[in-house]
Amino acid sequence: MKSFMIQGAKILATGSATPVVSLNNNKISQIVQTSDEWIFSRTGIKERKILTGFNQSVVDLAILASNKALNKISMNPSHIDLIILATSSPHDLFGSASKVQFKIGAVNAVAFDLTAACSGFVLSLVTASQFLHSGSYKNILVIGADVLSKWVDWSDRSTCILFGDGAGAVILQSCSISNNSILNFQLDSDGKYSDQLSIKYREEIVSSSVLNLYKGSFKYLYMNGKEVYKFAVSQVPLSILKCLNSLNISIQDINWLLLHQANKRILNAVADKLCINRNKIITNLIKYGNTSAASIPLALDEALLKNKICNKDIIVVSGFGAGLTWGTIIIKWYI
Ligand code: ACO
Repeated sequence: MKSFMIQGAKILATGSATPVVSLNNNKISQIVQTSDEWIFSRTGIKERKILTGFNQSVVDLAILASNKALNKISMNPSHIDLIILATSSPHDLFGSASKVQFKIGAVNAVAFDLTAACSGFVLSLVTASQFLHSGSYKNILVIGADVLSKWVDWSDRSTCILFGDGAGAVILQSCSISNNSILNFQLDSDGKYSDQLSIKYREEIVSSSVLNLYKGSFKYLYMNGKEVYKFAVSQVPLSILKCLNSLNISIQDINWLLLHQANKRILNAVADKLCINRNKIITNLIKYGNTSAASIPLALDEALLKNKICNKDIIVVSGFGAGLTWGTIIIKWYI
């Protein structure tokens, strides 16, 4: 990756939001035939938060997370230039970012959705940083938010146990190049395996008198768990190494490993492959499950609230998921 930079990009504030209703492993075993022991030992998940209110959507969670980030730095929303909403579960097929823009009062911001499943936040952060590095914008709000509980098949025990709902937001601001936080990135896709993890389009014919006309909808989430596991454990370490090598940063220099919170076994396997001490892994999936595009900003926000991350810490952030798509960002944290 080579990017032309006339100004740096810095993360100023974070915020997150999850639904109030919690569905733990014991409760889920009243819905499908499973057990706390099976789920926890294979995934590291104990509970997940589920959006249950009628007509509540990803927009509500995204607004909450964004307002929390804005309030932390007392930023007037009118100062935001761009909003990127990473989501694969929008409330409107045309996109949900504009709704968020209106509801938080970001009257001067352009807003759009970015769809890249569990890699969505990483891709959005890279996209935002490019607008900052080029000097186009000063303040950008990046949100990762998903409500996959609405898209899983609640009779399929191999998938419904994994996912939860949530949102995380970060506010990025331009800064001097010497304070730039987004040091490098590596992004990849391989559509050959898109069928291994997908929410497929389907259609039914509604009229055929003049010409065939179809009504579209989407199926439930499908995942080939074993293939996704193999993909993540083989590709993510390579992506991280590529990124680190081009910066001449060694494994020992890494302070934190912040991966998409898919599964505890994936997190451990990636750390082990890279010889990164497991105590450097940032994880909260025990409480939230896999929240897709929300998982990285949600875990980052919690780590910051716990004062885990210090000035100048090196954080390796990697997302991976449907597409298949995966990507890494190396962040140097400036307080
Ligand atoms: N409870 C009890 N038994 C179950 C459950 C469950 N929830 N789910 C599946 N089983 C059973 C299966 O029916 C099967 O039984 P059988 O041997 O009698 O046929 C057995 O357990 C093994 O099933 P597998 O699908 O082979 O289970 P596996 O050991 O692969 O574990 C898991 C499944 C945890 C999903 C694993 O494949 C995995 O970790 N995959 C990684 C994928 C992942 O984390 N995806 C997250 C989403 S993708 C993303 O975020 C990018």
